[in-house]
This record gives sequence, structure tokens and C-alpha cells, in this order.
Amino acid sequence: MTHIGVLTAGGDCPGLNAAIRGVVARATCAGALVSGVEDGWDGLMRGRTRPLGRDDVRGILTRGGTILGTSRTDPYYHGEGLASLAPTLAETGIDTLVVIGGDGSLRTAARLGEEGLGVVGVPKTIDNDIEGTDVSFGFNTAVQIVTDAIDRLTTTAEAHNRIMVVEVMGRQSGWIAVYAGLAGAAEAILVPERPYDLDDLSRRLTARHDAGSDYSVVVVAEGVPAPTGERITAGADHMGFERLGGVSTWIGAELERRTGFETRVTILGHLQRGGTPTAFDRVLATRMGIRAAEAALAGDHGMMVASIGEEMVLVPLSSAVAEPRSVPQDRLDEADWFLV
Ligand code: F6P
Repeated sequence: MTHIGVLTAGGDCPGLNAAIRGVVARATCAGALVSGVEDGWDGLMRGRTRPLGRDDVRGILTRGGTILGTSRTDPYYHGEGLASLAPTLAETGIDTLVVIGGDGSLRTAARLGEEGLGVVGVPKTIDNDIEGTDVSFGFNTAVQIVTDAIDRLTTTAEAHNRIMVVEVMGRQSGWIAVYAGLAGAAEAILVPERPYDLDDLSRRLTARHDAGSDYSVVVVAEGVPAPTGERITAGADHMGFERLGGVSTWIGAELERRTGFETRVTILGHLQRGGTPTAFDRVLATRMGIRAAEAALAGDHGMMVASIGEEMVLVPLSSAVAEPRSVPQDRLDEADWFLV
């Protein structure tokens, strides 16, 4: 009988519980056993697993976070790779692992797959930067949260004749910035995919204000460099994973200095990752979970579930994690039609 282990690894995002529920529902219907691994790879290294049946996943669809917990522990960084997981795998009898993760965790899964472990990946990240899939779950919810924030910031910006700089997540790519900027009618969107010119932006904002508009909203992805060219970080975590956040403070100060308009900065941070998933993300994550269970049952190892058009398909894990997925030029061009 197939015994599937399911784990959530890396930063959390809305939809993780929906995906876990999808895996458990589909796998148990086929008579397979499912075990939940606690706190990502850390739990697998330390033998922390628990059986998951239908009753264990009732009522979790709408909940943010993950009932299994997550961590950025990595078996290659903190252990000996597959060898550090072998005792738990042997003890539990888990033969296939469904890894619900972002680029880092899926890269680890691909490597374990090359070492011989049966793995199936499920892409999750609000950043939407995983190759091979049209979209990852969590992204739609984050875009909605940021759009709501921009709507609110716009009315207070109008009331005070201010420039509002809104910093959003997106370490390597500007998906959230572009989509929420478009949805919220931002005046400027700065993303890691292309360099920005503060002189030019200041001139364009000044021209807009001179022409009668008395506020502007500038959306900044956290991964853009500061005006000086350096990457702004607040150190790194125990994995050496850079903590981004704060570049908008520098950009806001420079815009205020150059334009003379009063400027305020809002860093949305982890608000973008918390709370209930949108209906879109609930459905996407559920379908991905179901497809992952089917892949595990069929022995389709070394693959990642991908949403392509309306279909849930499998793509090789190795191809999905080779490079981060950038916002394509045509999407940037579309956003540009509405910018100052
Ligand atoms: O990778 C997703 C992400 O949300 C990034 O956009 C952000 O930089 C990072 O996680 C922050 O993660 P944490 O604060 O949990 O380490």
C-alpha cells in the first residue's frame, strides 16, 4: 500500500491547508496511507510525523498558515541530505513525499529525488516566481490584500496631497507589485526585473502633480535595489536566507527630496501572507493537492504539479527550479500604459 508523506516547507502562504486537504482526500479515497510531517524538513529529520485521515483535515480549507507547521531547515544544509531522512522514512514506511514548497524547498526535493527518494512537488508562494506553472497558490490572495491596501492608501494620499510608497513582497520578481499596481491604478511600479531611474520618476511625478493631480501611489517590490544600488536587508536568518524589507524607506526619502512633495511609506510585510485564501487560491491549491496525490499513487516521481491553462499537469521538478520566473516584458508593458 502506498504511504504518502506530506510536508510544507519554506515561508507559508494562504492555501497550504487547502493543498494538504486535497492530498489527504484523494489519497485516502484510493486506500493509501498519509502521514503529515511537522515543520517541513525539520520534522522529517527528527521523526516528527503523524497520521492524517479525512477527519484531520476537516474545516481547514479556509484557514491560513499550515496545520503541519513549516520551517526553512534544509536536509543538505543542516544534515546529510537523504541520509538524514532515512531513519524516519524507514520507521514510518513513507515511500513517497509530497513536498509543498517554494523554489528553495522544491530544489531540495529535486535533489532528494536524484538521490532516489520518491518525490512530488507542489508549487506554493505568494511571490509567484516558480517556473513551469502559470501560477502558484498564495499569489492571488496576496494580490487582493495589496490591492485593498492600495485602495485605502489612495484615499488618504488624496486627502493630504501626498506621494504614498507601498512596499510589497517579491524578492526576485515583481509579480505582486505589477498585478496589485495594475489593480490599484498605481502611478509607478518598481520591480527587480528592470532598473529604475529616480530622476526620471521624480520628473514624471512632478509633472503629474503640476498638471493637477495631487497624489501619487508608487508600488515597490522588496527585491529592488536602493537608489545607491545596494540591496537593503535586515541581516539573514539561520539558513543565510536574506531578510528583505525597507528599501521603500530610502526610495520614499529620495522622492520627497527630489519632488518636494510630502511622502509616506507603508511596508505591508507579512500581512500579505496571513489569513484566509481567496476562492481562487482555495480551488487552485485543492486541485494541486489532488493532482499531487494522483502522481504519488501512480509513481510519477521527480515531478511538480503545474497549472497550465485550465489543466493540472506534471512537469519535471528539475526544470521548474532551475531559474526564478520573472514577470514577462509584455506584462510590464501593459502596466506601463497606466503609469505616469
Ligand atoms: O518567499 C516568499 C516570501 O514571502 C518573500 O517574498 C519574502 O521576502 C520572504 O518570504 C520573507 O519570509 P520570512 O520573513 O518568513 O523569512
